Amino acid sequence: SKGKITVIGSINMDLVTITNIRPQVGETVLGESFSTVPGGKGANQAVAAARLGADVTLIGCVGPDAFGLELRNHLMNEGVSFREVQNETKKHTGIASITVSDQDNSIIVVPGANEEVTPTGIEPFIDTIVGSDMILLQLEIPIHTVEYVIKKASHNNVPIIVNPAPFQPLSMETLEKVTYITPNELEEKMLQVVNMKEKVVVTKGNKGVSIWDNGKFIDIASYNVDVVDTTGAGDAFNGALAVALAEGSSLEDACRFATAVGALTVTKLGAQSGMPTREDVVAFLESQNSKG
Ligand code: RIB
Repeated sequence: SKGKITVIGSINMDLVTITNIRPQVGETVLGESFSTVPGGKGANQAVAAARLGADVTLIGCVGPDAFGLELRNHLMNEGVSFREVQNETKKHTGIASITVSDQDNSIIVVPGANEEVTPTGIEPFIDTIVGSDMILLQLEIPIHTVEYVIKKASHNNVPIIVNPAPFQPLSMETLEKVTYITPNELEEKMLQVVNMKEKVVVTKGNKGVSIWDNGKFIDIASYNVDVVDTTGAGDAFNGALAVALAEGSSLEDACRFATAVGALTVTKLGAQSGMPTREDVVAFLESQNSKG
């Protein structure tokens, strides 16, 4: 069965520069190429889940500008149902200035309209939130909103995945209400989730995933793929995890599926452009199995 997944999160236009050389402070260099591609952790996770066949709603906010128009159309084309928060102060659409060089990337995010995703701003959509099968959150919107959604969802027994990126501290009280938390290795250190009630999934890039579920540890290996751009790999993982869990998979099986989705994503440039469909994942897993 298809689960109803609701993402409350950020929407950005990614301004991606590819360069061989990174400038020093005060220096100017010539880059290789430039492109604008849809991004934002919330939108990335929503698109990842929609491509895998889930029924996805994204609650977020874009600005009254060309990027906003483009991203609104883009979400529609991806089959994501976009519920728009009102942008009272006409903030610009969120952007991420991304520099890709070699196998690495660095990102500056300017949230703009994502700051309008406040508890008051999402109030009109509270029925959608509490009527979901799975809630998916990241920390690129105001932290009070994240805390508010967790409170409402947990009160209504809706399972919640929190991807604590980019890292912001969350209170103990909030963390205890979360069902799954998915830090990377750095975020895990900052979270100090030891002795917490929730299930922890630590994503470790090409080193795979470590699951901690009720005192039980499981390690899952990653796949060996040619890396083009790692931007959005974590988002693809989280979107896929939400889909598999909402469909009733065990946490371990869901993490295996999500690991394959993350691996396929890094083989292409751009956060969302590389995200696979369900058919792509099935074909990939079959090819991996036949390799033995
Ligand atoms: O996780 C990757 C995303 O982080 C990019 O798409 C960028 O928009 C930033 O939000």
